[in-house]
Amino acid sequence: MICLSPHKLPMKTPLFVQLYQPQAACVRQELLRGLTHNGQAGAAWIAPKFLYDALGSRLFDAITELPEYYPTRTEADIVRVHGHAIARSVPSHATLIDLGAGNCAKAARLFDSLLPRRYVAVDISVDYLREALDQLQRRYPTLDMLGVGQDFSHTLALPAEVGAPADGPKVFFYPGSSIGNFTPDQALAFLRQVHAVCAQSSGSGLLIGVDLLKDAAELEAAYDDALGVTAAFNRNLLVHVNRLCGSDFLLPDWVHLARFNSELSRVDMHVQARRAVRVQWSGGERHFAQGECVHTESSYKWTVAGFSALLQQAGFSVPTVWTDADTPEQGRFAVMWAHA
Ligand code: AVI
Repeated sequence: MICLSPHKLPMKTPLFVQLYQPQAACVRQELLRGLTHNGQAGAAWIAPKFLYDALGSRLFDAITELPEYYPTRTEADIVRVHGHAIARSVPSHATLIDLGAGNCAKAARLFDSLLPRRYVAVDISVDYLREALDQLQRRYPTLDMLGVGQDFSHTLALPAEVGAPADGPKVFFYPGSSIGNFTPDQALAFLRQVHAVCAQSSGSGLLIGVDLLKDAAELEAAYDDALGVTAAFNRNLLVHVNRLCGSDFLLPDWVHLARFNSELSRVDMHVQARRAVRVQWSGGERHFAQGECVHTESSYKWTVAGFSALLQQAGFSVPTVWTDADTPEQGRFAVMWAHA
């Protein structure tokens, strides 16, 4: 019998499937609907997904390095400190499905402890995933890897290549408190979709990062840093919108605004008109008074109890919770595991 040591096995190649194909006309229509408030007078909005063009994604990576933006760092510390406990709760040898994988770095930190049988990286475009997965495959040559281009904020439909229920448990990984960019109703609907997939194979569940409610000053600093990186990230969205729908937003006319709304437990980001401006595009225009805002993102902050209740409402178990404090409710950030 010939035995090959693992590093002698041939290197696998990541597979890629692009499911989401945005139509330029639909994207333009969606943007203009928000800008004109469906033709009614009222606050304009642009969906936060438009923050992430190529430059926006790089600016977001830079945000995660800022001293004021604690979530990414705190989550990584929790995963490092509680790595053994997480590995005892979360099934190993599962299919690890990384939602909003980006550069895949967060999930890769779990590979050595969770030993996934397959890694599925999901992001809006497989083009973002190619380089990261190719690099990761060199570090983990025998791990099956699949990149899926999908807008999972619309639907969690995944391709057959992810594996059948009989292939064993699925561990969904949704880090970074991206769940906070959904309204509570949207978050519940999304969690229900994840639960429906998890319910098909025993042992499956969700490992999720959740940013916790805290002092307004600390929250506002995290979304309005001294260096102005978050301001650039937010205002760059106007450049992206100009490119997508031929509008003529001028950057000097718009300032970044981030405010904590304690009633709704969320940080709201806006771009605010510095003076009265008229924005035009082919077939339409909108006037903005001085001080008028375009809403660009909300980032909801949860309590441990509130998010545990939401998970259970979606059908999940009472979660196991790890935070950066001795008692969960004192934590700044929580990592939770809930099985279906
Ligand atoms: C991706 N998401 C969880 C970030 C957040 O904190 O809501 C996006 C972000 N917006 C401004 N800074 C970071």
